[in-house]
Amino acid sequence: MPENKLQNGHKSQIRVWCDGCYDMVHFGHANFLRQAKALGDYLIVGVHTDEEITKHKGPPVFTEEERYKMVRGIKWVDEVVEGAPYVTTLDTLDKYDCDFCVHGDDITMTADGVDTYHLVKSADRYREVQRTAGVSTTDLVGRMLLLTRNHFKQGQYEYHVAKEHSSTMGQDSSARSPYTGCSQFLPTTQKIIQFSDGKSPKPGDRIIYVAGAFDLFHVGHLEFLQKAREQGNYLIVGLHTDPVVNRYKRSNFPIMNLHERVLSVLACKYVSEVVIGAPYTVTKDLMDHFKVDIVVHGKTPIMEDENGEDPFKYPKEIGRFITVDSGNDMTTEKIVERIIRNRLEFEMRNTTKEQKEIELIKALEEHQISV
Ligand code: CTP
Ligand code: C5P
Repeated sequence: MPENKLQNGHKSQIRVWCDGCYDMVHFGHANFLRQAKALGDYLIVGVHTDEEITKHKGPPVFTEEERYKMVRGIKWVDEVVEGAPYVTTLDTLDKYDCDFCVHGDDITMTADGVDTYHLVKSADRYREVQRTAGVSTTDLVGRMLLLTRNHFKQGQYEYHVAKEHSSTMGQDSSARSPYTGCSQFLPTTQKIIQFSDGKSPKPGDRIIYVAGAFDLFHVGHLEFLQKAREQGNYLIVGLHTDPVVNRYKRSNFPIMNLHERVLSVLACKYVSEVVIGAPYTVTKDLMDHFKVDIVVHGKTPIMEDENGEDPFKYPKEIGRFITVDSGNDMTTEKIVERIIRNRLEFEMRNTTKEQKEIELIKALEEHQISV
């Protein structure tokens, strides 16, 4: 234990290290970081470069600059180390004064099949938390790739995802890896409580309201929420239901369902509260109910409501509507385009990752049997 952390013989702060790719950051990553932070007091996250990820895993969907920003936006993260090495060494832990490294209970290997945590494991400076089942980049990429085949039909979503995703990987569902294989995420009230701040606005707080789909929560959303939050000190995000998003964003959207979108938005450090299934039109009732001071929207086009009306008509009329420029032109559609453009590469990356996991599990099982 480093000297500078000893005060009267007691340790003043437990510093936790986590590293990873954090590509297409989702609430599984956020839930992991929440658990890691709970093991100590200060959380440092090392994020790998594009070059390192390409070498060991295949090309990332998001650039390193985008991934660094996304991790910084998660409420449990105290510090981000850019360009962290793929294999975690004791030198890295010491350099950042960290007591131990935390990872999910899946297996991460280098291109040569070496456990990236073998050094910290043998020095007993490794802790494990349970991976969040039912969400992974692999699964999200799978959902997006399906869109090109027009298999998505409203109301038949789960059936097609399960069936098509298996065939994408050329395996039946029984041959899927328990880590990154596509399974269903089951949202619970406990998870929502764990992700929430649980704080009401204080008297005198200036309350900001924004609304949208926030599908595949991305760096454009993050920068928008940062700008929106700067307009006041309590930020409420109204999330539209899946059928409402579906009405204005074409038949394939949303990629993430309402429950998943709630957790993604709650994990953002600028967000105070989420309305789960907000009405599309921002009415007087809604503004009075939440004591909204100002309604904020980004520079993206405002889609009309079902009656062809502007959903922000009321806040505009009473002079309580502003637009802010996120300065970022990312959209959910662009993410899907990126995936489709690099479809073969991503498919190969997913299949290889899962195949490696299945082989390792088999080897471990055989080993246990023969011991
Ligand atoms: N993680 C998790 N639950 C998930 C996904 C990731 O707990 N559903 C954890 C991983 O175990 C790891 C950290 O998040 O400790 C960072 O993961 P990352 O390196 O980005 O990669 P993956 O594990 O491959 O995540 P994904 O499959 O989603 O890309
Ligand atoms: O498109 P969606 O409904 O998810 O957008 C939610 C909010 O984020 C909207 O106010 C939108 O204008 C804003 N946004 C932004 N910059 C982006 C993407 C979204 O300001 N690049």
